[in-house]
Amino acid sequence: MKTTISRLKSHIDQTVTIGAWLSNKRSSGKIAFLQLRDGTGFVQGVVVKAEVAEDIWTTAKGLTQETSLYVTGKVQQDDRSQTGVELVVTDVKVIHEAVDYPITPKEHGTEFLMDNRHLWLRSKRQHAIMKVRNEIIHSMYEFFHMNEFIKVDPPILTGSSAEGTTTLFHTKYFDEDAYLSQSGQLYMEAAAMALGKVFSFGPTFRAEKSKTRRHLIEFWMIEPEMAFVEHEESLEIQEQFVSHVVQTVLERCKLELTVLGRDLSKLENVKAPFPRISYDDAITLLKDKGFDDIEWGEDFGAPHETAIAESFDKPVFITNYPKEIKAFYMKPHPERDDVVLCADLIAPEGYGEIIGGSQRIDDLELMKARYEEHGLTDDAYRWYLELRQFGSVPHSGFGLGLERTVAWITGAEHVRETIPFPRLLNRLYP
Ligand code: 4AD
Ligand code: MG
Repeated sequence: MKTTISRLKSHIDQTVTIGAWLSNKRSSGKIAFLQLRDGTGFVQGVVVKAEVAEDIWTTAKGLTQETSLYVTGKVQQDDRSQTGVELVVTDVKVIHEAVDYPITPKEHGTEFLMDNRHLWLRSKRQHAIMKVRNEIIHSMYEFFHMNEFIKVDPPILTGSSAEGTTTLFHTKYFDEDAYLSQSGQLYMEAAAMALGKVFSFGPTFRAEKSKTRRHLIEFWMIEPEMAFVEHEESLEIQEQFVSHVVQTVLERCKLELTVLGRDLSKLENVKAPFPRISYDDAITLLKDKGFDDIEWGEDFGAPHETAIAESFDKPVFITNYPKEIKAFYMKPHPERDDVVLCADLIAPEGYGEIIGGSQRIDDLELMKARYEEHGLTDDAYRWYLELRQFGSVPHSGFGLGLERTVAWITGAEHVRETIPFPRLLNRLYP
């Protein structure tokens, strides 16, 4: 019977066949241990010379790393192994022999591994990260469906920018100019006026010359947008959302998090409500922590975010930033003209900003004024202004960066490991 490694546990004492690759092998004169993987998991196959036909023993002994196989054997319970089972091999058929697989069990440098990303993905650690990424996406969709959000897909080719013009990828759209989307937000605002609560999930592009462990050129963002939802209500939804994702991953990806050596107690603690600190208080906190040169009005860099996060044992919202350092569409604070109704959610342990969000300006005249201040007279935005002209309502939304969230939950040092094929400042291959 043909099955997969993930299902072996329900075939104890039965003989089954799996399609697999050999990830590693140890053998002596009498016994060979085959480390097998099939995408669903990893399992050890044991070949005992005295118990198999001679040609099978010879094949097993000669197997090279990443050779593809059909392996038949009897499933045996084994409490010492991570998967709980072992396969006592009775037959091995080579599908395709791999010769000189470049990624050996020894240590390799990062650049080498990145050049071989198409193969590196097969390793146990990368496999675990991709499984967690998948579960994060799944649990996000689950949360939004449970809460009656409708998924809407904004365009990727756009005629204008959402966040500012400096980080746009330009391309030609026949005779017109077009840009790759840096956020679907403006379109999601239109969608919220049609469908109430909406979310999108898709790739976004930032032509940013940043070379940090938190920046990708192409990354995936989840962008909810909610009609009739004000700033504070939006924060409550965000903390519920992030708690749901983290607790679900903890429950469903224990094995992967263990493979990754993640400190689970840190994640167990991630439950709503999350602390909030105003930008003003964050400046004071930073000054108390010895950041003497930060002044009110400046944006926070990675060291600042890390220092603020260290004061809390959960993700923390930094609210009400100065309007000068935030996007044009953010609603001013009702009692203060110098700050806006926004929040960034900073992950613990130095992973930085994972969410940026705000209440949006809903007043047509104010939005028009902001347009002029930002030199956005472009006809390409006419439709966005019309959202404020026909039944405008208070609304809020946010964007969560998937890769930074995966990095935080898996404990990965750098976002390059959290996306299958990272696009980085100096990397477009493979
Ligand atoms: O803070 P950002 O730029 O917000 C927006 O784009 C809003 N329009 C979202 C919205 O309100 N609908 O980006 C949101 C998140 C950040 O918090 C971060 O997690 C991630 O996207 N992000 C990046 N991730 C990887 N590489 C980059 N270069 C990123 N830039 C932003
Ligand atoms: Mg931001």
